[in-house]
Amino acid sequence: MDTNLPFDAGTIIYLDNAATTFPKPEAVLQRTFEAYTRFGVNPGRSGYDLCLLAGDLVVETRRTLTSFFGGSDPNRLVFAANATDALNLLIQGVLDEGDHAVSTTIEHNSVIRPLNHMARDRGVEVDFVPVDAGGRVDPRAVAARIRPNTRLVVVNHGSNVIGTIQPVGEIGRLCRARGVTFAVDTAQTAGVVPIDMRSMCIDVVAFTGHKSLLAPTGIGGLCIGDGVEIRPTRFGGTGVNSIHPYHLDEYPYRLEAGTGNVLGIAGLRFGQEYIAARGLDAIYRHEMALFARLQGGLEEIDGVTLHGTTRLEDRLPVLSFTLAGRDPAEIGTILDVEHNVAARTGLQCAPLIHRQMGTEAHGTVRFSVGPLNAEDDIEGAITAVAAIAAQR
Ligand SMILES: Cc1ncc(COP(=O)(O)O)c(C=O)c1O
Repeated sequence: MDTNLPFDAGTIIYLDNAATTFPKPEAVLQRTFEAYTRFGVNPGRSGYDLCLLAGDLVVETRRTLTSFFGGSDPNRLVFAANATDALNLLIQGVLDEGDHAVSTTIEHNSVIRPLNHMARDRGVEVDFVPVDAGGRVDPRAVAARIRPNTRLVVVNHGSNVIGTIQPVGEIGRLCRARGVTFAVDTAQTAGVVPIDMRSMCIDVVAFTGHKSLLAPTGIGGLCIGDGVEIRPTRFGGTGVNSIHPYHLDEYPYRLEAGTGNVLGIAGLRFGQEYIAARGLDAIYRHEMALFARLQGGLEEIDGVTLHGTTRLEDRLPVLSFTLAGRDPAEIGTILDVEHNVAARTGLQCAPLIHRQMGTEAHGTVRFSVGPLNAEDDIEGAITAVAAIAAQR
């Protein structure tokens, strides 16, 4: 195996944690690899010891994550490939011809596109409720769109473009009072801010493993509340009751077909250990302290416009900026090539919020802070942007 990387990852200022957290904590990687080395076999298919160990890991991870999200039944914690896959399972498995769904303009394409496909191809009606200039959706505006045929409200908990955290508890209570299934896309928030399905009246949580839950790429899922029925949209082997001609109806099998991602599930399991040991609140405070310095530093640079909210409350450590007269893609390239700073540019898979912000043509430059960033990263990024701004 060629381990001669063309660069030393340690010298990079990585501020693209909203895309995926990097690097992962050493302890999570070590424990994950150890588990996979010891019993990385196909769980739930046979009765030999290695298989039982792998099965225990899967069961334990379902249990840990269910309690992390405030869910009730670990069998309703279903694994998928990522948040996109999980959201497709949800959206295609709940909505039917003649149904109506409500969402917002701050969604990621993992919600927008499945909903648009349901609207174009399957006779579903969809409303995207606009957010305000700070990116916040008014819960009453969401409730006002609910009609007798509304089957699903799906809202992004935390924006991957401007960091706004939505008042999901308020939206959840309004949906619950109206008997409508309320789902939350926690791709950006899980592992950074608390999520409690019970007190927030959330019926379904969609999550991805590779961001702040600190697992490898390729794992995500749904935590499904009691009474929520999601039709299976794919069928196949479950390792259980193989004689049955149809896919099993009970969760988690109902939504899982084929061999699962044991390495990813191990990553979720040990990511949970790391988060519990460090503390969700401590992680959030660490990231937000760095973020406050980053935002403050960028604000002082001539020509920089920060988009969305600059509030430090109810937000994630994710910001979008532009430099007057400059293409964000060019800024991203200079950050990378000349300053070793990794950022994301463009529309960040969230076109509707860019349209609302007037940045649809070229998008923005996005910085996102993660749990392993340090002050030096922030100072380096501010210095880099200041140098680029001065080049004009
Ligand atoms: C808000 C939001 N939702 C969904 C996703 C999709 O996550 P994944 O790429 O893991 O499917 C992302 C990824 O960036 C995201 O930021």
